Amino acid sequence: MRKIAVLTSGGDAPGMNAAIRGVVRCANSRGMDVYGIERGYDGLIKGNIFRMDSRSVSDTIQKGGTILKTARCPEFATEEGIRKGGDVLNAYGIEGLIVIGGDGSFRGMKDLTDLCGIRCMGIPGTIDNDLGYTDFTLGFDTAVNTVLDALNKIRDTMTSHDRACIIEVMGRHCGDIALYAGIAGGAESIIVPELPFNIDDVCDKMRRNVIKGKVSDIIVLAEGVCSCDALKAQIHDRTGVTIRTVKLGYIQRGGTPSMADRVLAARCADRAVELLFNDCKESRVIGTKDNKIIDMNIDEALAIKKEFNTQMMEIAMRLSF
Ligand code: ADP
Ligand code: F6P
Repeated sequence: MRKIAVLTSGGDAPGMNAAIRGVVRCANSRGMDVYGIERGYDGLIKGNIFRMDSRSVSDTIQKGGTILKTARCPEFATEEGIRKGGDVLNAYGIEGLIVIGGDGSFRGMKDLTDLCGIRCMGIPGTIDNDLGYTDFTLGFDTAVNTVLDALNKIRDTMTSHDRACIIEVMGRHCGDIALYAGIAGGAESIIVPELPFNIDDVCDKMRRNVIKGKVSDIIVLAEGVCSCDALKAQIHDRTGVTIRTVKLGYIQRGGTPSMADRVLAARCADRAVELLFNDCKESRVIGTKDNKIIDMNIDEALAIKKEFNTQMMEIAMRLSF
């Protein structure tokens, strides 16, 4: 293949620019032409496509967000929308597409393959870390570090006032951001959608913490469970304790990508380009397993259910005993 395109889709994630840069430069260095598509599948359907070269991605590796912009595009979840996208790629003579996005974006990519025969490579870009086939997704490490930075600051003030605080973090249906930030930040409780949670246990632990002399109590709550305000009301009803809440929100999606996300972006981009350069006959997704870069057939990858790391949760519970 000599002519390929790249787009970002779904929620943005730190490291997406590093991945776009990696795609453009790894492709150009192999003599391939690269086209950028703006605003994900929406831009594909509308033909918002332009030629990119090495200079188009200068000074972008350290930037959060995505220079190609992103979108959620309901039309692309229809057969008509997908066929329109396939027609645009064919009209430009583009032979392969690299999609940087999450689970939904990969489902769109699979449909584009099945309905239009376009070969696509997926690079996992989402802060949620909710894809089963890969250990990590681009943006997750940065998002967790952003949460940690906030958690440390919140801890300072909660300790000064002898207070408890619920910190609500993103992740959609996945508890990984809460789990990793909770362990690294020394949270007293971590509540995730993957595991059953008993409000009475949380309240009992808060009471025990007071008896043990703990002066602050941080509960990291994944958004997929409930809102921090709903949890606060339940705890207050049972204990009468005054508790503060912080919903971290979009701060988790922005910011300069960490070293881990930049390096993962570069490695995934190079593999995706290599597969297209070698005329791989099927659509695949790139990821990382045991710190090695892997690629896998898109159907197989999408069939793998994300498994929650219960061992890490057990460690977290021992640490906050
Ligand atoms: P993410 O890729 O981060 O999971 P979304 O779930 O919002 O984000 O998906 C991004 C886009 O991918 C959607 O707006 C839509 O255009 C496309 N998409 C999602 N699900 C499907 C699907 N089942 N079939 C085709 N396209 C889909
Ligand atoms: O998928 C990334 C993510 O940030 C989730 O953690 C969150 O639930 C969702 O996107 C928010 O999406 P939106 O920006 O469309 O509200």
